[in-house]
Amino acid sequence: MLLARRRCAPMATTMPNAAAFSGAATASQPAEGIAKDRDLAPLRPPVLADAEVFALAQRYLTPNYKNSSIVFSHGDGPWNIATDGRRYLDMSAGVAVNALGHGHPDLVAAIAEQSARLVHQSNYWHNQHAAVLAADLCQRFETAVLNTTGKTEQSRVFFCNSGAEGTEATVKTARRYHARILGKARPGIVTVQGSFHGRTYAAMTATAQPKYQDGFEPLVPGFRYAKFGDLASIAAQIDDTVGAVLIEVVQGEGGVCVAPPGFFKELRQLCDDRGVLLCLDEVQTGIGRTGTFFAFEQEGIAPDIVWLAKALGGGIPVGAMIAREAVAQALQPGTHATTFGANALCMYVGRVVLGVIDRDDLVGNARRMGDLLLRELKTAFAGKAYVVDIRGRGLMCGVQIRGDVKAVIEVARSKGLLVSLAGSDVVRLTPPLVIGREHVEFAVSHLLAAAEQVLANA
Ligand SMILES: Cc1ncc(COP(=O)(O)O)c(C=O)c1O
Repeated sequence: MLLARRRCAPMATTMPNAAAFSGAATASQPAEGIAKDRDLAPLRPPVLADAEVFALAQRYLTPNYKNSSIVFSHGDGPWNIATDGRRYLDMSAGVAVNALGHGHPDLVAAIAEQSARLVHQSNYWHNQHAAVLAADLCQRFETAVLNTTGKTEQSRVFFCNSGAEGTEATVKTARRYHARILGKARPGIVTVQGSFHGRTYAAMTATAQPKYQDGFEPLVPGFRYAKFGDLASIAAQIDDTVGAVLIEVVQGEGGVCVAPPGFFKELRQLCDDRGVLLCLDEVQTGIGRTGTFFAFEQEGIAPDIVWLAKALGGGIPVGAMIAREAVAQALQPGTHATTFGANALCMYVGRVVLGVIDRDDLVGNARRMGDLLLRELKTAFAGKAYVVDIRGRGLMCGVQIRGDVKAVIEVARSKGLLVSLAGSDVVRLTPPLVIGREHVEFAVSHLLAAAEQVLANA
């Protein structure tokens, strides 16, 4: 029964009922059959008033998110527009996701056109978009490896749906590579304090921040923690039971932390010397955000595994783990899989996102606008006693603040600027890669006004 609906318990709020849905079947219309053979208007759920949204969310969503009281109805480039018509400059981009901004015509067309052709198929069958997107990502990876190391490497991609799944795939691949390809299990994994790798079990265990692990014990065995940017501390955690180091090139959630110059080169050497895989989490830094397609390119090194998500689908969930050929051989048939990963819609959208990034030189724009943003922030906040540090790379910038950082973010929001919190004291800016000079100026002046309002006399 195509139109069968489940009975729901009565609701305290005004809940849209079946009849309120435009296109719902009536007694005279057929209740069975293939939708596209019927001459019905598309089913369109009704739009709710904000108060109804809040009531439903409060009653029915798990309480794990602290949502603000804004409901966005649509977007326009780097702007988000709320249901009351207010415009907000989105300098967060859904936490580094909306690389093309909102309502980008190429993204809109890609989703519409591909969804009319084919949304999902299982991985039992080939899908041209997965094959082409994998080839594209491998070529970018292999070119970056050649440029940084002079070595010719082949690589392969595993597609998934999120950053955390990329972390899981990396942990599984690294462990299986040692156990089944090299023939000696080395299940130990070293990660660093302040890292963020996701919320699933291995990803949460890899995330060396107790606040994310609290109450979820027992964690996944085999993880050890060291200090970010501190080679000796990482070296001290590596013995012959350790098979991989997992690390972000620039720590995002941890507070937009950049490692000291030369750290990654030394880490690469350490991993080579000890037979350990270097696995880089580029979920936030990847796809051009830091001014090169992969952030590792700026470190002059190449990883054994790198994983991406966030910006790759421009808002459609797409994740990808790229591994060197020999390492990728750990994932033989039946060893790892995901239902939704590599589906036709996600893969096509990924192709279009990368196509737009190349066509419009958005990596170059990230570099240019990122330099401008950092410079303008440093100029605007020069001499402010409440500023501890201003740092970043490309369009991933952080203003570290002494004082009530959450209040600064809230006041900025009330002034029409969306930024996010990173670590305990950093205002993070990860805007869409399409922003221009006027957006940088708006962001800096409004963030300064918010900080002054909260902190100038604190
Ligand atoms: C570096 C990094 N890795 C992994 C993740 C987890 O990604 P997801 O939330 O898509 O699972 C994030 C999310 O913020 C991240 O910043």
